[in-house]
Amino acid sequence: MIEPVEIENYTQLVAAGAYERDSGGLFGKQDNVRRCWEDQINRQALRDFLSALVEEKLRSLSRLRVIDLGCGAGEGYEILTTVQHEGMGVGADHLRVMPDWILGGYKGVDISPAMIEKARERYSTDPKLQFEVADLRDGLPLAPDEEPYDIYFSSFGSLSHLDDDALGRVIDGICHHMGPRAVFVGDMVGRYSYEWQQYWDAPEEGAETMRPYSMSYVYPPEVRADVEPLTFPLRFWGGCELVDFVCARAGRHGVDIARQDVRDRSILVGRHMDTAEFNPNARPVRRVVASLHEFNRRTDLRELLFDYLPAPGHPELNHFYETYQMAWNNVVLARIDAVAGDGHRDEGEPNQPCEANDNHPEGVCKAIHTIRNVVANVGWFEMGDPLANIIEPQLGYVLRMLEIDLQQGLGAAHGLLGIFELVRR
Ligand SMILES: C[S@@+](CC[C@H](N)C(=O)[O-])C[C@H]1O[C@@H](n2cnc3c(N)ncnc32)[C@H](O)[C@@H]1O
Repeated sequence: MIEPVEIENYTQLVAAGAYERDSGGLFGKQDNVRRCWEDQINRQALRDFLSALVEEKLRSLSRLRVIDLGCGAGEGYEILTTVQHEGMGVGADHLRVMPDWILGGYKGVDISPAMIEKARERYSTDPKLQFEVADLRDGLPLAPDEEPYDIYFSSFGSLSHLDDDALGRVIDGICHHMGPRAVFVGDMVGRYSYEWQQYWDAPEEGAETMRPYSMSYVYPPEVRADVEPLTFPLRFWGGCELVDFVCARAGRHGVDIARQDVRDRSILVGRHMDTAEFNPNARPVRRVVASLHEFNRRTDLRELLFDYLPAPGHPELNHFYETYQMAWNNVVLARIDAVAGDGHRDEGEPNQPCEANDNHPEGVCKAIHTIRNVVANVGWFEMGDPLANIIEPQLGYVLRMLEIDLQQGLGAAHGLLGIFELVRR
């Protein structure tokens, strides 16, 4: 069998330090957008599913078991174990939905020996965590007597490495192996991201559904052009397509979807907005958003104002993006306007009134009011730079809230996060 290109590519990425936790906030695997937006959005989406499982485990006096498919260096373990309860007041303790003592076992599997070595290096002191090299194209990697898992987890595109046959076999394996109830997390790459408009059209009859993807973004922008990009084929998914696929495959085994949450994650802030490798019209919005969250760094907000260029033949997606772009720009303008109104207007900044009004979706009004309030109430901050360290990070969080409110789970983002509660009939 030919060794898959993923093994060599991920070995190189690990060797290049791309999977180290601290490679700075402005680019790379663990940039500020991953830390402050993407991981947090995953945690928020997982919360209700995880809470329900934990309650069930408390009732049945048993512990919760997780398998992480394409676990990388164990990033999923960190995400799952730091999901927090909803609505924590400022004074409340940070209560985790799944404290350590609830977790009975976590097994991470990945095709890349380099990734598994990195994961073991990180977590070798915890005997509840196991990591194994395995190729998911051979199905779910299980020992004959392995007990069912409560969560069949994946994060950040791992399952997009599988073609439909291989993903189908993994879902078959889950349906055979699970107990009466389990949660399946399929975190895929979205097909309708602005980053790759040329993938929006379906492949021609009989053509390959897997299309090229590149990991060039892990390198700093100044060296990116000189590095040979590491590429591999991925399956890009639309929201309805993913739901239909999971439902149909699970249905064959007498397993129903009791509940699902399918959401777009990183609509204008996908990794390849910065590289423009697949769409020359992409603008480096991710880097600018990462800059909003950077300590002591002022960001040129005009770089956030986005001009969407429509794709012929996709009226619904064009409508979605045009509305989203206008909402996004309105919130950015509200911040520019609010600071300018406070006597800080920079030369050349647009000066448009951007009042929230009844025609705006609720999320837009909320975002505009929030950022105006932030600016109005920053006067107490006497040391350092309130624009860089209070207003800009909060603009980042407001834009994140806008994404959460307006996304429709279309696959119109870099990530398409599908969470499915599976129940045996
Ligand atoms: C984008 S990384 C995601 C890693 C991690 N889950 C995270 O949240 O950052 C994709 C991972 O899928 C793994 N992978 C790719 N093809 C695979 C396969 N056929 N079987 C198992 N793992 C695979 C890669 O080695 C890589 O670690």
